[in-house]
Amino acid sequence: MPDFWEVLYTRRSIREFKKGAPVEPWKIEKILDAARWAPSPENMQYWRMVLVRDQEMKEYIADMAQEHGATVFGNFPYEIVEDRLWYIPEKSRAAVIERAYDGTLFRYPEDADTVIVPCANTTAFDITPAYPSSTEVMVVSTSMAIQNMWLATRALNLGMGYDALPCGDHRRREKLADKLGLPRGVFPLTTLAVGVPLFPRTATPARYPLEGIVYEEYWGNPYKRLAFRKKG
Ligand SMILES: Cc1cc2nc3c(=O)[nH]c(=O)nc-3n(C[C@H](O)[C@H](O)[C@H](O)COP(=O)(O)O)c2cc1C
Repeated sequence: MPDFWEVLYTRRSIREFKKGAPVEPWKIEKILDAARWAPSPENMQYWRMVLVRDQEMKEYIADMAQEHGATVFGNFPYEIVEDRLWYIPEKSRAAVIERAYDGTLFRYPEDADTVIVPCANTTAFDITPAYPSSTEVMVVSTSMAIQNMWLATRALNLGMGYDALPCGDHRRREKLADKLGLPRGVFPLTTLAVGVPLFPRTATPARYPLEGIVYEEYWGNPYKRLAFRKKG
């Protein structure tokens, strides 16, 4: 089992799975169990998960992802899409953009062993109106559960792809909620495809340096990494 830092630095978005390669049920259960340990306000545990294993349903999800992907990318000039996808290595960028244009890049849930649909339960407990931003805390908590599952997937040497496109607009989000029989107030956040990666991916897309995302004491005063500070 890789250690915590290795898991953190090598977790990737996996968008290609070995079709039909099964994942042992105990591993899926372990991933789901990781969600339970996420923090939440007053330990309210707003997250709920729906597991999708039915192939027809996975294909329905893939169809919605493709349709919406083609809208999100296909309607823009190449140069703009290329700018948005700057972090993809240049040698593979054109091929990826081609598949983003027609949306096929986002069909990967159909090749996954299991698709987890994490939902924020906005109906949990009557006290929620007391929170000034109750939807926010539910979504933040469920996001923490998602990240736990993503890291757990990597620790188990499996792959997870975050495919937000089936929930990418209100109409599709409602269609997905209906298809899964979700009650009103239970809000599907995304779809998480889990499976055996087609090939290992460890090189991580570039991240901004700390100086680009952290300010010291006040906004605009860049944080200086310890290595760049004067000694003494
Ligand atoms: C809120 C959120 C939405 C995302 N939506 C999608 C998506 O719809 N399709 C997709 O292929 N990747 C999606 N991703 C994955 C990002 O593209 C990916 O995390 C980012 O490029 C960094 O790459 P890495 O996860 O491999 O480190 C999403 C990630 C997050 C956190």
